[in-house]
Amino acid sequence: MIQIKNLTVELASATKEIYILRDISLSLSKGEILGIAGESGSGKTVLSKTLMGLIQYPLQKTAGKIVIKDNTHSQLSELKQYRGQFFSMIFQNPTASLNPVFSIGQQLTETLKAHNPNLDKNSAIAEALKLLKEVEIDHPEDRMNSYPHHLSGGMNQRIMIALALATNPEVIIADEPTTALDVTIQAQVIDLLLKLNKEKDISIIFISHDLSLLESVCNNIIILYAGEIMEKIHSQNLKTEKIKHPYTFALKSCIPGINDSKDFLYSIPGTIKLNTEDDNNSCIFSDRCRYATQICKQVKPALNSHCNYRCHHPL
Ligand SMILES: Nc1ncnc2c1ncn2[C@@H]1O[C@H](COP(=O)(O)OP(=O)(O)OP(=O)(O)O)[C@@H](O)[C@H]1O
Ligand code: SF4
Ligand SMILES: [Mg+2]
Repeated sequence: MIQIKNLTVELASATKEIYILRDISLSLSKGEILGIAGESGSGKTVLSKTLMGLIQYPLQKTAGKIVIKDNTHSQLSELKQYRGQFFSMIFQNPTASLNPVFSIGQQLTETLKAHNPNLDKNSAIAEALKLLKEVEIDHPEDRMNSYPHHLSGGMNQRIMIALALATNPEVIIADEPTTALDVTIQAQVIDLLLKLNKEKDISIIFISHDLSLLESVCNNIIILYAGEIMEKIHSQNLKTEKIKHPYTFALKSCIPGINDSKDFLYSIPGTIKLNTEDDNNSCIFSDRCRYATQICKQVKPALNSHCNYRCHHPL
């Protein structure tokens, strides 16, 4: 349904080439849940915004194509037509994403009317109530008159999902949708997204730094590092013995086990670096990788249709 081909996004204002996304290729099928994982600053949000045509100066697409339902787009401005119609997006902080001065009912009915201008007021209210029931909001009639600050973070995230559904999208991009919620509410929101995926066959791009969450929710997972895909992996292969890329392995090792003592908590040494023209001929992870050899600093490992990991010395 979606294909991203060799997408590169650079920082236009820089004196040298700085890559925020570099040579990204991936695809999303109908009904698939695709995870995008990576440390903070790896480019997860820029990738999702680029897909919706939402990046602005100083970010600039310098290469690549986006194919949506067999239509190829080289210009990001062409992607506007899909926003709301084909894609909807939900964000990390639902309470900040909702408009504080309009009631939940107003926000839902306005979104429904924007999508379908022929909808009369009563039908819009009926549709809004239906959406609130779909996202399992209790007492939906009462909630129509509530404002975002009256509701908990978990309820507001359900409202965000209802708003995302108002336009009948085929793909929902969820950027850290549960990071701001506590664990029990997190599980409810995830269950809701899974239900929508199953019942409505909505594809989901699920962005998170939480690899264990993605492992339990997604079909396939893209591991991003400094704007490059390190590995594309089926979630069932995210087992220690099946991981090929040292970065994926390191990320997986950072997930604390319930019995881990604090002395054994693992963290990846060093910090994520900027991806620049100086890295044209090296593995971008080489300064942090314990398996790095000379070739890793001389030849950028390839990722292509034959090889789902970018590494000279796969595990
Ligand atoms: N508008 C912008 N102008 C300049 N640099 C930007 C802009 N937006 C993002 N960046 C840079 O692009 C890189 C990727 O940012 P992005 O927000 O996509 O990371 P992320 O993986 O979503 O991180 P997080 O997990 O913290 O949300 C970062 O280095 C960030 O500083
Ligand atoms: S290419 Fe080399 S430096 Fe990069 S991840 Fe593989 S072993 Fe490590
Ligand atoms: Mg982000």
